[in-house]
Amino acid sequence: MTSPEPAPRSEALAAELARVLESGGAAAPDLVPAAEVVVTGRSTLHRIADRASGEQYLVKVPIVVSGWVDTHDVLPPAAQFEALERAYRWQSAEDRHAVVRPVAMLPEHDAFAMEWAPGRTVLETLDRAPFDPRAAHAAVRAAGDFLRRFHRHGWVAEERVALDGPVEEIRHLVAGPLRDAGLRLPGPVSAALDRVADRSAVQARVLLHGDYVPSNLIVRSADEVVMIDPLLADVGPTADDLARFLTVLSSNSAFLPGVVLPPVRRLRRSLEAAFRESYGIRDPDELLELRLLHQHLLRWLRRRENSRLRGAAPLLAARNRLIDRHMRALLLESGARLAAATRHDPRLPGPIR
Ligand SMILES: Nc1ncnc2c1ncn2[C@@H]1O[C@H](COP(=O)(O)OP(=O)(O)O)[C@@H](O)[C@H]1O
Ligand SMILES: [Mg+2]
Repeated sequence: MTSPEPAPRSEALAAELARVLESGGAAAPDLVPAAEVVVTGRSTLHRIADRASGEQYLVKVPIVVSGWVDTHDVLPPAAQFEALERAYRWQSAEDRHAVVRPVAMLPEHDAFAMEWAPGRTVLETLDRAPFDPRAAHAAVRAAGDFLRRFHRHGWVAEERVALDGPVEEIRHLVAGPLRDAGLRLPGPVSAALDRVADRSAVQARVLLHGDYVPSNLIVRSADEVVMIDPLLADVGPTADDLARFLTVLSSNSAFLPGVVLPPVRRLRRSLEAAFRESYGIRDPDELLELRLLHQHLLRWLRRRENSRLRGAAPLLAARNRLIDRHMRALLLESGARLAAATRHDPRLPGPIR
């Protein structure tokens, strides 16, 4: 990755935001930094309050770096702002959930401002799932319902596609980066892949959210979310957004103890099921499982890469073994659903060539 520019200070961002708001007709905003700056690796985030109106803003300064293993490169601020505006327009037709309101571009600092949304993220709710499973279930159901509505707005087409493409992508990862990291695909998953390679499936293509992860959603009320961070950069199968959310959900550290504790494993699986169901997925879906396998593998590599960078202390080695067992369990579950979809699909589509 390339190294980012030094981050601007909250005071300077507040001053630019005040100028922009005033030039837009706002009456003398009195803006001050309202919280510690948050640095995520993809951006720095400055919370700024208006002492005159009581409103709070979140100013985001994207760190435009590339080279992410498992997700899209960071988009420039103007592109992020435009995506947020578009998502905000889409949301105006909906009667549930929200998209955070875009406020202004701040060109002097390569930044933009949006409204600040109070509350926990869905990720924080998942971290606490073993202690508050009810809140976690409500949050993932809201996340599934939000995405179903969002995809209707981004709708492009429905079409039949050959499954050999996604299968090949997985095999490529397995034979290259995975092998280099000393990791292997479990045998039953390989066998399930072999059986779908010459099939086809119907897929819906949409303008993808692009980074539909639990940290990009804030829980607004028990069954509603506020979405904060859309990419809207690529058209692709709905399965891509679904798989990204499911992968980040199921690989959350809160569920690692599920390797040895069946109640934690059941909790994780029921959260996954709740998300799928609220999106509207009833039956095992080959394309979704293929994308999920792909995402799981990227996630596995990313976690391995992170721990390699932190050195190889004995505790870390033990944690790695736990992560490996967890990831293998996720892969086996996905492979089993893939096999079930292939066996039971009554449409039995053959090859399209
Ligand atoms: N408008 C907002 N309101 C409240 N919290 C926010 C807002 N925007 C970002 N955050 C917080 O900051 C975190 C990172 O923000 P995000 O926009 O997703 O940045 P990144 O570019 O790093 O993905 C979020 O997970 C959330 O906790
Ligand atoms: Mg984000």
